[in-house]
Amino acid sequence: MVEVKTFFDKQTFTFTHLVFDPASKDAVVFDPVLDLDTVGWRTYNDSLQELDSFISEHQLNLRYVLDTHIHADHLSGMQHLKEKYKAPLVINSAITVVQETFKQVFNLGDDFNTSGCDYDVLVKDGEQLNAGSIKIDVLHTPGHTPACTTYKIDNNLFTGDALFVPSIGTGRCDFPKGSAKDLYHSVTKKLYTQPDEARVFPGHDYPGNRELQTFTTIGESKKSNVDLPENRSEAEYIEFMENRDSKLPLPRLIYQGVQVNLTAGQLPKKESNGQSYLKIPIYND
Ligand SMILES: [Fe+2]
Repeated sequence: MVEVKTFFDKQTFTFTHLVFDPASKDAVVFDPVLDLDTVGWRTYNDSLQELDSFISEHQLNLRYVLDTHIHADHLSGMQHLKEKYKAPLVINSAITVVQETFKQVFNLGDDFNTSGCDYDVLVKDGEQLNAGSIKIDVLHTPGHTPACTTYKIDNNLFTGDALFVPSIGTGRCDFPKGSAKDLYHSVTKKLYTQPDEARVFPGHDYPGNRELQTFTTIGESKKSNVDLPENRSEAEYIEFMENRDSKLPLPRLIYQGVQVNLTAGQLPKKESNGQSYLKIPIYND
């Protein structure tokens, strides 16, 4: 029976879920965070160090590092974990669509590789990954982005930004190539068809004044998800989401996050002076 240890990054409201088998010591991690100081523009490793301490304290063997999608609100800490534990990096094969899309947004030029080759394993819907004694089922759940994936381990679903706890709802669908229609079908056909008692571990929580909620269940989601309760029709959901998403500001780190995460959390190639730079589009209209 696996256990789940959840870490929360207060800067970006992001959950990193570490799943481990206490008997075999096999472990996998979802959505690790690389911290970013947005005044000095320096990365730092406080979140990763917390993860490292837990892994070392419990003597775990990290088998895979998985991102549920290309995040737009934080930098992925995948590279640190790959280097330290030699753990392969995993994402959905539809990452190539996201890379193509943002190659245009950032005008990245012909040498930007959109084959997904920055990752070690590209997974598809219905596949199973073996992480030692841990079996991971892959459910493609697009809508927030085309490559969004839910990973299932036993009765635990790691849903990223497809499905949050009931009071937060579902992920926004207004990013390039996002689709409320796709998310409706992902949630109703792939997630709400799971057993009511299956646990849902989302990619974020925004608790406000209440206590942080690290997971919910499929049964609770169907009953009381504010964006997509079980009885909401596709047309109602699409209209609701278009209206809701049009009022949301862009995530604070969207350009920094996406640009770095497109290549599995690698900073852009150093220029001739040995320095990495990020591109930020400036709008003047
Ligand atoms: Fe996201």
